[in-house]
Amino acid sequence: MNILVTGGSGFIGANFIRYWLSTFQDDLIVNLDKLTYAGNKNNLLEFDKNKNYQFIHGDILDIVLLDTILTKYNPTFVINFAAETHVDRSIVYPEEFINTNILGTFRFLTALNKYYSKKDNQEKRNFRFLHISTDEVYGSLLKDQAPFTEESKYYPNSPYSASKASSDHIVRSFFKTYKLPTIISNCSNNYGPYQSIEKFIPLIIYNALNKKVIPIYGDGKQIRDWLFVTDHCKAIASILFKGEPGEVYNIGSSNEIKNIDLVNIVCNLLDTFSPLNKDSNIKAYKELITFIKDRPGHDNRYAINTSKIKNQIGWEAETSFKDGIKNTVEWYLTNWDWVTKSAGSEYKKWVKVQY
Ligand code: NAD
Ligand code: TYD
Repeated sequence: MNILVTGGSGFIGANFIRYWLSTFQDDLIVNLDKLTYAGNKNNLLEFDKNKNYQFIHGDILDIVLLDTILTKYNPTFVINFAAETHVDRSIVYPEEFINTNILGTFRFLTALNKYYSKKDNQEKRNFRFLHISTDEVYGSLLKDQAPFTEESKYYPNSPYSASKASSDHIVRSFFKTYKLPTIISNCSNNYGPYQSIEKFIPLIIYNALNKKVIPIYGDGKQIRDWLFVTDHCKAIASILFKGEPGEVYNIGSSNEIKNIDLVNIVCNLLDTFSPLNKDSNIKAYKELITFIKDRPGHDNRYAINTSKIKNQIGWEAETSFKDGIKNTVEWYLTNWDWVTKSAGSEYKKWVKVQY
């Protein structure tokens, strides 16, 4: 089977391609990626000569290119990871989010619809388009509120989550109007290898090892439900095989952690795995933690009710946070070369413009 993945050079896409190619050796994965600042060719370097992997440098807005790829590779599964994803960047550069996440998803759906309409009935039955979305579309929960379900209302608060929410609605409309077999998954915060060093966990590790301050927005009491990225990849595979067209599935790990607790856990692991020199001016990495001005519109809490995916698809997160975060910290320390290469000119530019 052929599978088209967009945004496969980013964090989750690259982990997904790795997972899929190591699990289903007969399939061909075509990865269409624009290689924005978040796309990293080093994430999939060793697959460059793999006959089961094909990289195409391009934009999901390029409808001519999309037509060519779809005709040439005739994919059965199509998974859309491509997006602008950093909430902080969406506050500074909102238009890029509107462009890729809304217009890009629309163009992609238009090309897919044309492609799908030419398929025979058997091919139509097998075809799936999975749109990878986020729990952030549901907005923010108060401390005692029940976790988000698939029935929760959309209340996006950042340009990022608003653009993802818009894309979800467009995907839904293509199912309802054109009967394109689309599925949407809304996932909580992922962590693991190959994540851009602008995001919270890699940023803690990068700054700590460089003895730079570790910035914590506001009081650090915001809560996220952290899911190990490989568990997310397994959920995606299960949805592709067992999910129903037109449905939405929430993905999470019921693992709610306050930012301040998370930063302390990571700092403690760094103390163990990369101990400070005796002559260092700090005695523990947590001394670098610094509270700074809060992110505008900062969502207080995300939490996910995973009953639907558990009951209907049979998927559940497998990785304990204790194991996942330990493995993640070890991965970044072992792959420091990858980390330093990621801190290139785009990253340095971002650090300067950040509010
Ligand atoms: P990422 O920022 O690491 O990667 C995004 C990828 O998309 C990059 O490789 C980038 O080059 C590519 N891209 C951007 N614009 C493109 C365009 N116009 N055409 C083609 N490629 C383009 O993102 P990620 O963290 O891997 O997230 C992947 C998807 O999962 C996103 O849709 C995101 O909204 C969703 N998601 C992420 C998380 C998370 O915690 N990271 C949680 C839930 C949902
Ligand atoms: P992030 O990784 O940007 O994911 P999201 O905002 O999409 O959940 O941030 C995770 C949490 O960490 C979020 O509450 C914001 C907070 N955060 C900081 O406190 N300091 C930082 O430097 C960053 C990048 C994030």
